[in-house]
Amino acid sequence: MLKEINDLNLVNNLSDYQVSFNQFNQVLGFFLNDNLIGFVDYSIIYDRLEINYIFVKEEYRKQKVAYRLLKYIIDNYNYQNITLEVNINNIPAINLYQKLGFKIVATRPKYYNGVDGYLMERRIS
Ligand SMILES: CC(C)(COP(=O)(O)OP(=O)(O)OC[C@H]1O[C@@H](n2cnc3c(N)ncnc32)[C@H](O)[C@@H]1OP(=O)(O)O)[C@@H](O)C(=O)NCCC(=O)NCCS
Repeated sequence: MLKEINDLNLVNNLSDYQVSFNQFNQVLGFFLNDNLIGFVDYSIIYDRLEINYIFVKEEYRKQKVAYRLLKYIIDNYNYQNITLEVNINNIPAINLYQKLGFKIVATRPKYYNGVDGYLMERRIS
């Protein structure tokens, strides 16, 4: 079950990534029997949507949880342009994004502690 999360403790206990709310971002959680097993942190910045981070608990990976979280956002917000940054070595995440129609549009040199990142974009023309 997908549900918006407002309780930061809930989401910040799941992974090393720490969400903090600002005027733009929201968190969508994936719950299984009332337990949070994954989330996506995303920002709506005027006319564009940016994926900040997506995470699925290790034991629930490869079961389409991340796919369903992102698909929900893609289907429920009618944004022309969705962007994200990803470490060039993060093959699972790159594959996930490509599966959902994201394309690599630029390389961000040394974006992650000295490792390059890709800027990926999903654009509806
Ligand atoms: C990346 C991550 C969110 C994927 O979550 P997931 O729920 O396991 O992904 P899904 O089951 O929805 O996978 C959808 C597609 O992504 C790709 N994918 C997912 N895991 C993969 C892996 N280990 N190796 C290769 N491709 C993978 C595949 O294309 C997959 O489709 P398929 O199952 O038909 O092959 C998860 O591995 C994770 O939490 N990683 C740590 C955090 C992270 O790196 N987040 C991204 C930051 S930018």
